[in-house]
This record gives sequence, structure tokens and C-alpha cells, in this order.
Amino acid sequence: MRTEPDVDDLLSLFPPGTHTDDDGTLVVGGRRLDDVAAEFGTPTIVVDEDALGRRAREYLDAFRSRWPRSDAAFASKSFPCTAIQRLMVDEGLHLDVAGGGEIVTAIKAGADPDRLLLHGNAKTDEELRLAIDHGLGLVVIDNFDDIDRLERLLPPGSRQRCLVRVIPGVEAATHASQATGHTRSKFGLLPDAAREAIARVEHSPLLHLEGVHTHVGSQLLDVDQLAAAVAPIAALGTFETYDLGGGLGARYTYDEHPPTVDDYADAMVAQARALLPADSRLIVEPGRSMVARNACTVYRVTTVKRGVITHVAVDGGMGDNLEVSLTGQRFEATLVARVGGGETVTVVGRHCESGDQLVDGVALRDPAVGDLLAVPVTGAYCYTMANQYNGARRVPVVFVRDGAARLVVRRDTWQDLVSRDVD
Ligand SMILES: Cc1ncc(COP(=O)(O)O)c(C=O)c1O
Repeated sequence: MRTEPDVDDLLSLFPPGTHTDDDGTLVVGGRRLDDVAAEFGTPTIVVDEDALGRRAREYLDAFRSRWPRSDAAFASKSFPCTAIQRLMVDEGLHLDVAGGGEIVTAIKAGADPDRLLLHGNAKTDEELRLAIDHGLGLVVIDNFDDIDRLERLLPPGSRQRCLVRVIPGVEAATHASQATGHTRSKFGLLPDAAREAIARVEHSPLLHLEGVHTHVGSQLLDVDQLAAAVAPIAALGTFETYDLGGGLGARYTYDEHPPTVDDYADAMVAQARALLPADSRLIVEPGRSMVARNACTVYRVTTVKRGVITHVAVDGGMGDNLEVSLTGQRFEATLVARVGGGETVTVVGRHCESGDQLVDGVALRDPAVGDLLAVPVTGAYCYTMANQYNGARRVPVVFVRDGAARLVVRRDTWQDLVSRDVD
């Protein structure tokens, strides 16, 4: 790994267009991050709205230019708030929703229910009722109990369109918690069981089998592993729709070079051309590679403690970024006013766990109490896993665009922390 990244290296991890102002302060979406912190406090997740919209268009264009009958369904789980889902809907994307809560936010975001597809390996009656009541376009069947439940809950005469989720048997080179395509996976059905589920759905008067779904895992940096999922589902037969899942990795650190969306589309569509019916519909479900780079988190330094190593502690941590402790993901960081260079420190959070580190070993220039610190690439799976550990107030989300900033999710209040305590 490179130990001395320069300013441009650091900027390249932030949303495209991020630069430093005349006095060296970081500017994202045309807005100085110190101004964002002054207006909305810290920690705050800052999303570059324009950059995210461009990324959504890039995805759709990449697939539609190669395979005209394709759709991109944003994997809401990676950043499930109404403003993000609305942006995706406005850009023409469908939404993949994992569970009832994401149905609720998607509907609030103005999504057409017909353009929602529901995932879940443990769907409840309540969630399936919500899907049926809202008229969701597609339910992805993960197991035989999904079929039983749907047949029990669907009103007579209805016809719910479904995909059957298939385990592709691909061992992905990613963190164990992010690998979903191996044969021991809890998601979906192995090919023989999938064949049985397909036959059941085909014979059900209440269900319509539209196609098959597969997903190899998340944060994959090798398109061949993603493309390897096409053959196992192609082998199951000829269908209207093939949903190839998400999984393309994001660039978190200097030495990672994930494939571009064009590389990814090339690899997936090459397999589709070789193995799938030419008139079928393709769906991809990007999450991380859509949102990760287009947001960063701004913290305030609360303590600098010098010992065997230097700990720079900030006012957030595993309450707003569980990726580090859950998957071991490496992030980078910089002071907002002094970008790049300096002494190697460990950035830690405010939570009562030694594992609550944001960055283990990163160069910061003269860190001091009161400085602002920005961690790039926090758009994926950070907001969604935010929690109230140690009484943390969950982080707000601020959209920046053309120099303007607006709050789209407010910070928890102290009152929120006791609002569910009924006795
Ligand atoms: C079924 C499904 N589709 C899409 C995604 C999105 O994956 P990623 O965020 O890696 O693109 C996931 C997440 O793991 C998933 O489980």
C-alpha cells in the first residue's frame, strides 16, 4: 500500500468534483465542509446529489446501450432513506427493497409500486401483506415458505409476479459477511431446489413466474466472479427476466481499483449474450457501487491522545459506520482544513468498544481538538446501519449541490432516544 498519498489521491476518494478552496478547505458539491458542519453539526453524512444522479444515469446507460431490455434497480438497503430513493426513482431506476421498512420509505419517496422488487430470506406475513396491498411489481421468492405464505395471503383471482432466487455456487473473494453466492448461503435455493420452486410457482394459480434472480455478494472487485453467476441461472431454463443482483465493489482505499461500470456491464452482457435469450429482460441491483463514493462523513475531533500510538477521537464512530467492525473495511480520512500529509494516527470513535476504530493508521496534519475530519466513501451501508449505541443520536443526511446544502434526514434528538420507552 502507498504510505504517502498526495492531495489528489485523497480527493479521488471523494465525490467527483471535490476540491480544496483557496484556504485549503475541502469542498464537496460546491459547498465547504466547514460550512456544512457549522450549519448541521457533526457527525453528518454529506451526499453529493449531482454526482449521485450522474452515477445512476451511468448505470442505466451502460446496461441499456448494451442490452436494451435492461433495468437497474437501486439496492435500497445500501442507503434506504426517502431522499435517496426519490433521486433514484427520478433518474428512472427501479428499487430493490429488502423488507417492509424499505417498502414504506420507497412508497413515501413516490416510487411506482410496480417498479419495486421485494427481497428477504425471512419475509413475514406482515411484510408480504404490505407488498400485496401496495401492489409490488415483483416478489423474489427465497424459499418454499415464501410460496406457502403468498398462496395463503394473496386474494383469489390475483396473480403476483415472482422471481425465484437461485444460489449460483460462486465463492466470492470478499468478506464472509458479504458473500451470498456460495453453496452454504442462507439466501435463495440451490439449483435443484430452485427447479422445484420454479415448478411450484409455474403451477400456482395465484403466482406468475417471471424469471430467476441471483446475487454473488458485495464489494466484489473482479467482474469475472460477478459474471460467473449467469451460467447457473441460464441452466434453469428460458424466462422472461433474469435478475443478476448487485455486488460491484467501490474504491475505499488508494490501492483498490474496482472495475468501472462499463467493465461490469461488458462482462455481464457478454455472458448474457452467450447464455440468455436475446429478448429477455435483464435487471441489475447496484447498491454500494452506486452510493459509496458519493457521500462522506464529517466529524469533529474531540480528543487527541498521544501514547504508544496517537489516538485521534471523534464525535461519531461505530454508531454511524459499522462497516469497519462488521466487515473490516479499511477507510481513509483527512482533516477538512488541512488535506493530506502529516503524522500517522489512529482515528477512533466515541463508543465503548476497542473495536470502535474508524481508521487504523492514517496520516493527519497537526490534528487538534475542534478540527473537522472527513471520512470519504461512507455512502453505502453506513446510514442504514446507524445505531444508538451509547446513546448515540443517529446521524443526519445533508444533500449538497451547486454550493447549496439541504437537510434530508434530521439528527435524532435527545427526546428520540427515550421516545419508545413506554414504561
Ligand atoms: C439481493 C441483493 N441485491 C443487491 C444487493 C446490493 O449489493 P451491492 O450493494 O454490493 O451492490 C444486495 C446486497 O448484498 C443483495 O443482497
